[in-house]
Amino acid sequence: MSKESPQSQAEHSSESYDAETVKRYKESFLFAPEDLRNKRILDLGCDSGDFINFLLSEDITSAAYGMDKRPPTQDEFVDHFSQGDFRESIPYTDMDVVVSLAALSLSLHEDVESTYTAFKNALDSLTNGGELKVFPIFKDSGKEWEGIVDEERNLLIILEKLEKEYDIETKTILVETETDQNGKPDYEKHLLLVKKIGKKQKE
Ligand SMILES: C[S@@+](CC[C@H](N)C(=O)[O-])C[C@H]1O[C@@H](n2cnc3c(N)ncnc32)[C@H](O)[C@@H]1O
Repeated sequence: MSKESPQSQAEHSSESYDAETVKRYKESFLFAPEDLRNKRILDLGCDSGDFINFLLSEDITSAAYGMDKRPPTQDEFVDHFSQGDFRESIPYTDMDVVVSLAALSLSLHEDVESTYTAFKNALDSLTNGGELKVFPIFKDSGKEWEGIVDEERNLLIILEKLEKEYDIETKTILVETETDQNGKPDYEKHLLLVKKIGKKQKE
């Protein structure tokens, strides 16, 4: 992964995006901007749209879009943002990469049905061969945190349901381990990758 110098980060801070947010996206999704060159990209739960503004203003791609239930806050690339609930519908198609940072996975521990619909909408917005990247997926480090155990179980239910409708390849990658005050593993944050091979034909 390429690293930016503090100087270049400082230069970006006067741009239309927040360099710290962009850094968080790169670290969470384990990608370098080059991986996204000329791809069609959608950010679900983009908030103020910093990551999309970064991709557009650095000319990494001209096809970067953001969706959030809050209204867009920046007007430079206003045509690249839409307001709405991704659990209801997603007004984009043919995406190569759909990312969701601290948004799509947040309801996993409590609401299987609408989170499943959100995942399904995200897969429908992808082109065949495209990839959905969701962070964080929490995993237990042996402490049996109730919310995390629920989340792990619900994710399995959702992926099993999705596999009935789509040909997909899924994997998770450990990105970060949180430790407790004694330095012992507390819980883990994983990146979920769902590659869409295609949608299954209804029999
Ligand atoms: C914790 S913030 C993360 C923002 C950004 N992804 C980041 O990491 O900086 C979660 C964002 O997801 C949006 N969000 C949550 N649920 C949503 C939904 N169902 N549909 C659209 N946006 C949603 C919220 O409005 C909020 O802007």
